[in-house]
Amino acid sequence: MARIFNFSAGPAVLPEEVLARAGDEMLDWRGTGMCVMEMSHRGKEFMSIAADAEADLRELLAVPANYKVLFLQGGATLQFAQIPMNLLDGKGKADYVVTGEWSGRAVKEARAYCDVHIAASSEDRKFTYAPSPWNVRPDTAYVHYCSNETIGGVEFHEIPKIEKNIPLIADASSHILSRPLELAKFGLIYAGAQKNIGPAGLTIVIVRDDLLGKAAKGTPSVMDYKLQAAADSMLNTPATYAMYVAGLVFKWLKTQGGLAEMEKRNIAKAQLLYDYLDRSAFFRNPVAPADRSRMNVPFVLNSAALDAAFLKGAEERGMVQLKGHRLVGGMRASIYNAMPLEGVRQLVAYMKEFEAQHG
Ligand SMILES: Cc1ncc(COP(=O)(O)O)c(C=O)c1O
Repeated sequence: MARIFNFSAGPAVLPEEVLARAGDEMLDWRGTGMCVMEMSHRGKEFMSIAADAEADLRELLAVPANYKVLFLQGGATLQFAQIPMNLLDGKGKADYVVTGEWSGRAVKEARAYCDVHIAASSEDRKFTYAPSPWNVRPDTAYVHYCSNETIGGVEFHEIPKIEKNIPLIADASSHILSRPLELAKFGLIYAGAQKNIGPAGLTIVIVRDDLLGKAAKGTPSVMDYKLQAAADSMLNTPATYAMYVAGLVFKWLKTQGGLAEMEKRNIAKAQLLYDYLDRSAFFRNPVAPADRSRMNVPFVLNSAALDAAFLKGAEERGMVQLKGHRLVGGMRASIYNAMPLEGVRQLVAYMKEFEAQHG
């Protein structure tokens, strides 16, 4: 059966090799006569799967030894609340940078816990750029930003510089593992798995260990980073099957050449699409060129009346999930690690054809 090109923003395309391997191992994982879904999370088989997944992720991202890697649940959205619950450290204030929908939602959640100050915002130009510099309060507990806005397609290509003693926190959900990352510049990064990591249901948190142990009174134990770190993310039953598939993705990334190779491929894919968008008189991307996301590429047609015809033609050619987010309309092509260059080539070829016909 031929697979289609899936441009969904998440849950998103996974590497074919990973899906095939999970299929091969479905009924009998390595002679155990069991599917990974059926295994006790405390048994030696699953413990080895979890340990491998963590070791491979540490290797891929070069996670420094003083950082904990947590495999949690609740999605990135739970982190919007879990971060203030764990990191306010009695200060009662936190600074946020607003660059679109996801960082905006983080602010909304945080307001229930503390005094929020907006250190920078790109709302003045409809969230189409990455603002700098930031106006950070010296006594803030931390600064939070979204390093890749999935809906608006805005990516911070440099890690913002802030005062050394203030923890920098990033929602990296939609571009984690797409490029090497200097983790030592962060206090904490987090990501929902369903874009570049694996199935939905798993959330990865990477946190510097001096930030553990500051949870506010009343924080549920499964939401306390320190308790989860001490229990190797198994304070309760973790998302075992999602962790297993994520582990297969990490192994796949290693065989492909790791994050440096992913970055090269992702630049090539993004360039192909943006170059065409910039040459086209019919399609347009609204984001400032220096801040365009390599992972999520929103674009609009000259006439919104043609949106449905564009999507229908794409589907007929085996390209799906190109409809933009309901908040912004238009189109969006999410081109995560597992999207092959060929998928982007076919998309651009179709866009040219569509432009010639309707432009
Ligand atoms: C950047 C970003 N943050 C947060 C979320 C919310 O993630 P979840 O659905 O895992 O809570 C998303 C979801 O698409 C996202 O793209």
